[in-house]
Amino acid sequence: PTPQSLAGKKIIVTAGGTRERIDPVRYLTNDSSGKMGVAVATAAQQAGAEVTLIAGSMKVTPPTGINVISVTSTNDMYEAVNEQFASADGLVMAAAVSDFRPATSADHKIKKDKDHPGMTLELVENPDIVATMGAKKRADQFLVGFAAETNDLKQNAQKKLTAKHLDLMVANDVSQSQIGFNSDDNQVTFMWPDGRQQQTPIESKAKVAEEIVDIIATDILKEK
Ligand code: C5P
Repeated sequence: PTPQSLAGKKIIVTAGGTRERIDPVRYLTNDSSGKMGVAVATAAQQAGAEVTLIAGSMKVTPPTGINVISVTSTNDMYEAVNEQFASADGLVMAAAVSDFRPATSADHKIKKDKDHPGMTLELVENPDIVATMGAKKRADQFLVGFAAETNDLKQNAQKKLTAKHLDLMVANDVSQSQIGFNSDDNQVTFMWPDGRQQQTPIESKAKVAEEIVDIIATDILKEK
C-alpha cells in the first residue's frame, strides 16, 4: 500500500481466538494463532491508519505503536468492539470467534462422578459480533469479515457476506494445512457484495494483509 493511503482513518482489527470458560482450569477455544489479524493491523498502521487491535488469545505478539485491547471471551470481544465501533471508520474482523459458550461456568473445578460416567456440556449461542455491527453500521463505515471453511468455501462465504452486511469477505480454505490457521502463508478469495471474486496465489499473510489494506483504501473507502 502507499504509505499514507489510510491516513486519518481509524480502524479496528480483531485477531486471535476466544476462550469460553468451563471452570477455573478449562475452556473451549480454537486453533487461531492471531497471525492474520496482526498482519492486517500492521499493514493498516503502515498505511497511516490509527489502529486498535482487539486481541483474543494469540501465538504472536502485536507490533509496537498499536493500541491493543486484550480480551478473553466472545462476550468480552463483543463489548470491546461495540464500544470502539461508533468512532471507527471500519472493522476488520479477523478473530476466530466461538459461536457457542458453556451455559454456565463453574466456580470450582468440575470433578468426575463415578456414578455418572461421561458428561454433557450445555452450550448457548454467543453474539455474532460482525453481524451486529453490520446491522448498525453507518453508510461511511466499512466491514471486512473472514470465512474459514472446510467445504463449499465460496457458497458459504457468499452467504455470510450477505447476511452480515460486509463490504468485503476474505474466504479461505482451512482444510489445506499449508495455509490458514497457524501457518505463515495463506491463499484467499476476496469476495465483494456485487459478486466480484478474486483468488490470490499462496502467499504470505503479510502480502494478503497488504492486499486487504489496498482494497480498503482504493476500493471500499472510495465508495463511502
Ligand atoms: O464463524 P463464521 O465463519 O461465521 O465467521 C465469519 C465472520 O464472522 C468472521 O469475520 C468472524 O470473525 C465473524 N464472527 C463474529 N462473531 C461470531 C462468529 C463469527 O464476528 N460469533
